[in-house]
Amino acid sequence: MTNHPRHVTIIGGGTMGCGIAGLMAATGSTVTVVEVDQAAAGRVAERVRREWPDDPAALARLETTTNLSRTPPEADLVIEAVAEDAKLKADVLAAAGRVAHHAILATNTSSIAIGRLAQAVHDPDRFLGLHFFNPVAKSALVEIVAGERTAPRTVELAKSWSETWQRHSIVVRDSPGFATSRLGVLLGLEAIRMVEEGVAEPHDIDTAMVLGYRHPIGPLRLTDLVGLDVRLAIAEYLSGELGDRFAPPRLLREKVAAGLMGRKTGQGFYTWTSRAAEER
Ligand SMILES: NC(=O)c1ccc[n+]([C@@H]2O[C@H](COP(=O)([O-])OP(=O)(O)OC[C@H]3O[C@@H](n4cnc5c(N)ncnc54)[C@H](O)[C@@H]3O)[C@@H](O)[C@H]2O)c1
Repeated sequence: MTNHPRHVTIIGGGTMGCGIAGLMAATGSTVTVVEVDQAAAGRVAERVRREWPDDPAALARLETTTNLSRTPPEADLVIEAVAEDAKLKADVLAAAGRVAHHAILATNTSSIAIGRLAQAVHDPDRFLGLHFFNPVAKSALVEIVAGERTAPRTVELAKSWSETWQRHSIVVRDSPGFATSRLGVLLGLEAIRMVEEGVAEPHDIDTAMVLGYRHPIGPLRLTDLVGLDVRLAIAEYLSGELGDRFAPPRLLREKVAAGLMGRKTGQGFYTWTSRAAEER
C-alpha cells in the first residue's frame, strides 16, 4: 500500500459521508459511497457537488451504490459514516470487514470507543478511528483514534494518508469522546443549558465565545451545523460512559423530538434559509 489510498469505500452518504467522499475523490482516490436505498444514493452526488463545486474530475471518480459488496476486494480504505449508533456501526463494520479483506477499516464516530466497535471486526489490528470534522471541505483536522488492538502500522498509514488529504492529524488514545468531542460537546451542552436558564440569547452566547475567546464559531451555531440529533446521541453515550456532566439538557431533547435538528432541517437554535445554509 502506498501513502495514497487508491480506492476508498464510504458507508453512509449523509453530512459526513458526502464530505469525506468529496475529499477522497478530490485527492485522487476512486470512491464508492454505500447508502441504504436508491433515493439516498441518488442524493449523494449532488451533496458532494455542493461541497466541491469546481472539480468535475473528482466527481467522475465517485460512484454510489446500495450494495456494499460493490466494494472492490482490493480497496485500501473503508470508512463507516452511518449514524452514531453503536449497534448499527458494529453491524456495518463487520460486513465491511468481510468484503474488503485487506483494507484499513475506519469509523468516523464522534464518540464511541474504538475498543467497543473493534469487537465486531474480525481483524482489529487494521481498525481505527478516523474522525473528520464538519464541514470536511473547510476543516484542517483529522483525529486518529488508536484502539488497544490497532496495529502501529495502521496508525502510521493513517498519518501518512492524512498528509495526502492535507489534513493535520493528531493521534489520541481510545477513550469515549476522544479529545475533540469530549471538550467540544461539553461546551455545547453548557451553552444549551444557558439558553434554557435564560442567561442570554443563542446569538449572544455564540458571540461571547467568538469575540471573547476567539473561537471561529460559537457552540450553538456549531450544534446547528453538526445536527441536534447527532449531538444528542453523543451526549447520551458520553453521559453513560463518563457521567452526568454530559447529561443531555431538556431543551436539546425537546428540539430533537420536535424535528428541529439544525441546519439540515432549517431550524435549530437558528433559522437556516437555504442561502444561509450555503454560506455556513
Ligand atoms: N454531523 C457532524 O458534524 C459530524 C462530525 C463528525 C463526525 N460525525 C459522525 O459521523 C457519523 C455520521 O454522521 P452524519 O452527521 O453524517 O449523519 P447523517 O445522518 O447525516 O448520515 C448518516 C447516513 O448513513 C446512512 N445509513 C444508515 N444506515 C446505513 C447502512 N446500513 N448502510 C449505508 N448507509 C447507511 C443514512 O441513510 C444517512 O444518509 C456519526 O457517527 C457522527 O457522530 C458527525
